[in-house]
Amino acid sequence: MASVTSLFAPVDGDLAELTHNLKQLVGARHPILYAAADHLFGAGGKRIRPAIVFLLARATTGSEDILPQHRRLAEITEMIHTASLVHDDVVDESEVRRGVPTVHSSFGNRIAVLAGDFLFAQSSWYLANLDNLTVVKLLSQVIMDLAEGEIQQGLNRFDTELSLEAYLEKSYYKTASLIANSAKSVGVLSDLPEVQIENLYGYGRHLGLAFQIIDDILDFTGSTEVLGKPAGSDLKSGNLTAPVLYALEEKPYLSTLIDREFAESGDWQQAFDLILASEGIARSRELALYHADQATYCLKDLSPSASRQALLDLASYILRRIH
Ligand code: IPE
Ligand code: IPE
Ligand code: MG
Ligand code: MG
Repeated sequence: MASVTSLFAPVDGDLAELTHNLKQLVGARHPILYAAADHLFGAGGKRIRPAIVFLLARATTGSEDILPQHRRLAEITEMIHTASLVHDDVVDESEVRRGVPTVHSSFGNRIAVLAGDFLFAQSSWYLANLDNLTVVKLLSQVIMDLAEGEIQQGLNRFDTELSLEAYLEKSYYKTASLIANSAKSVGVLSDLPEVQIENLYGYGRHLGLAFQIIDDILDFTGSTEVLGKPAGSDLKSGNLTAPVLYALEEKPYLSTLIDREFAESGDWQQAFDLILASEGIARSRELALYHADQATYCLKDLSPSASRQALLDLASYILRRIH
């Protein structure tokens, strides 16, 4: 199986420069933020979002001449993503991320909230400096969507009546919106025709949904060591994801366990086992496959190139990913 790193070969140089720039951009202002930034951007994030930006930029501009704005967009995208993770780890009380202690577990909640705010604010500043109002609007919407997604998820904890549609909507807000709108922004910066811009948006949206569904499956099937973040925590905290929603259709007792919020000893383990014994994981995989296929379809009009091929491979890689 290809690793993410080899998939991103056409943009290896771009990603190395990005990592260097991110540390510089974020670190310059304040020693504590420098420590947080160093910690965040030094540790093993997969950098899928900036890789998509670079690959799309290369695929749409005919390779060599990607714009300085494309580079800045990739940096802003990873900054927004990282800010959302810093806040998410506070909300989820997660102790590890990218295989290292989270910002809040190293520096405390207060610093983590402020560091996340600072990253969002700084990404907005760099965004404004792109001097492209359309892109400013697209990525500002993403920052609103991220908050909306976390709020929806918080309000729907342990709600066994949650529909698959509501789950997908929340997943769009939390995950797909950033990938979709940064992909769309590449098209805006490359000055593509409207139809092609919408195809890039479609690629990002479907890829993002597939990515989140697989992430939700991995929370059941993965190990903390491999994931670099705690496994099994979604169910514990009442975050009912695709495998649970499908399992609920088959195993009525599951809703009893969830409704009482795993109050009795053994409840959680029993719920976990019921989900694994159901078709929930297999049906979730089908759903992820559908979205990965749709993502692939959105790239059909792009001229063949190594970058386009990497974007297609990425859609199938995320179905096989283990972290
Ligand atoms: C984690 O995203 C949050 C989700 C949307 C599931 P990634 O899995 O891309 O996180 P990093 O950047 O590689 O750590
Ligand atoms: C990750 O959300 C943060 C965002 C996508 C905003 P989750 O809580 O679902 O993902 P992990 O498991 O912590 O990476
Ligand atoms: Mg989390
Ligand atoms: Mg969360």
